[in-house]
Amino acid sequence: MENIFFKNPLIIALDVDTTKEAIVLSDMLGPYAGGFKVGMQLYNSAGPEALRRLRERGAPVFADLKLHDIPNTVAGAARALTRHGALIINVHAAGGSEMMRAAAGAARDEAAKAGMAPPLVVAVTVLTSISQDVFNRETGVPGPIQDRVTAWALLAREAGLDGVVASPLEVNAVRETCGPGFVIITPGVRPAGAAVNDQKRTMTPGEAIKAGATYLVVGRPVTAAPDPVMAARLILADVCKKE
Ligand code: C5P
Repeated sequence: MENIFFKNPLIIALDVDTTKEAIVLSDMLGPYAGGFKVGMQLYNSAGPEALRRLRERGAPVFADLKLHDIPNTVAGAARALTRHGALIINVHAAGGSEMMRAAAGAARDEAAKAGMAPPLVVAVTVLTSISQDVFNRETGVPGPIQDRVTAWALLAREAGLDGVVASPLEVNAVRETCGPGFVIITPGVRPAGAAVNDQKRTMTPGEAIKAGATYLVVGRPVTAAPDPVMAARLILADVCKKE
């Protein structure tokens, strides 16, 4: 069920405030990126216009809006994002299986109405910025993060979702649990020597792919680099390295 629109595993997070900045980055990085991610910062600043303009230029777009609400509301948002041309959309697994099923059904239904291929619908598991200690103390959920991530991945698969967003450290376990066709999108990826910023559970791009990731989401290590093109090329080289 892999999405054929993303030409390689590298998805660049366009965490900027304006469509203009997003277009500059997408034009510059287009030859190297498999696709681009429009997240909360850009969507809440520039609106669906950002998605539409990127799609007009042929850029494959992941709308990372982490939907989490009652099933009917999430279904409505999933329909809207599908109409805006998002090729991947996501919801929080913590919203439960009914909510996930509603999102996937709505996206597929809306795509069918428009005669387009349905977007991948994936579930966010545990954010890559959450450490084991914070997870247990602040969410009140006991046990290792990995157990919660694999449980949510199975719930997402049963609800008809195409995959999950998970930290690199959980990719291996999710791949073993959910099998080869399940999409795993991995943020928290850091090239060797790069700043980790607020991410807590990281791996290098090559390691994450070897562990079984389908797509990598990389933001600041590319967009804040002195030479973003060189940074993206080095990540791609690491991803494609055969050992
Ligand atoms: O700049 P950086 O590479 O840390 O960006 C990672 C991107 O992936 C951000 O846009 C962030 O919102 C997103 N993300 C994440 N962890 C998740 C899901 C999404 O870091 N679990």
